[in-house]
Amino acid sequence: MTRTVDLNADIGEVLLTEEVIAAKTAELGRRISEDYAGRQLTLVSVLKGSLPFMADLMRQIDLPLRIDLMEVSSYGGTATESSGLVRIIKDLSASIAGEDVLLVEDIIDTGLTLNYLIRYLKGKGPASLRICTLLDKPARRLVEIPVDYRGFEIPDQFVVGYGLDYGERYRNLRFVGVLRPEVYGEPQ
Ligand code: IMP
Ligand code: MG
Repeated sequence: MTRTVDLNADIGEVLLTEEVIAAKTAELGRRISEDYAGRQLTLVSVLKGSLPFMADLMRQIDLPLRIDLMEVSSYGGTATESSGLVRIIKDLSASIAGEDVLLVEDIIDTGLTLNYLIRYLKGKGPASLRICTLLDKPARRLVEIPVDYRGFEIPDQFVVGYGLDYGERYRNLRFVGVLRPEVYGEPQ
């Protein structure tokens, strides 16, 4: 039998509140709107973790834009470690050739997933490609990633909420928090 889960009770520490995230998203949206003024933008986001950030960020950008969604998963790895071997589950639905593309990510950890995606998207011939991530965990970086828009640098802790999951749970929390260590040991 699965235990009843109290999502909030599983959180040890709230790292970023809903208000802090909203203020940062507005700031990033303003910067992006200024930087791309007079141009059209294509936002490409990576499911599922980036979904809340994408939804909030796009509404803070004052430009004509279109969106596209990809979904990737890494082969192997664990619930808290990515393996770097990326499988595309859902590809872009339209061509990005000649477009100004902004890749919207939830978190950059080792950088392996994004490194793969950047090469993949560049191969599609966009006019430009920039990276926007809500969270950056630089301590664990294995490959260098040119981040153009960064929300928050966070310490080397596994975080959940605002799209981020542990075993597919906690994505619906409105804040970003650190799981209690006990939670990792329990069966899903
Ligand atoms: P990377 O390839 O190591 O940069 O990992 C990127 C992906 O791993 C992210 O898009 C997340 O899905 C996942 N990930 C990395 N760190 C965390 C975390 O602290 N919480 C939840 N998911 C994470
Ligand atoms: Mg994940």
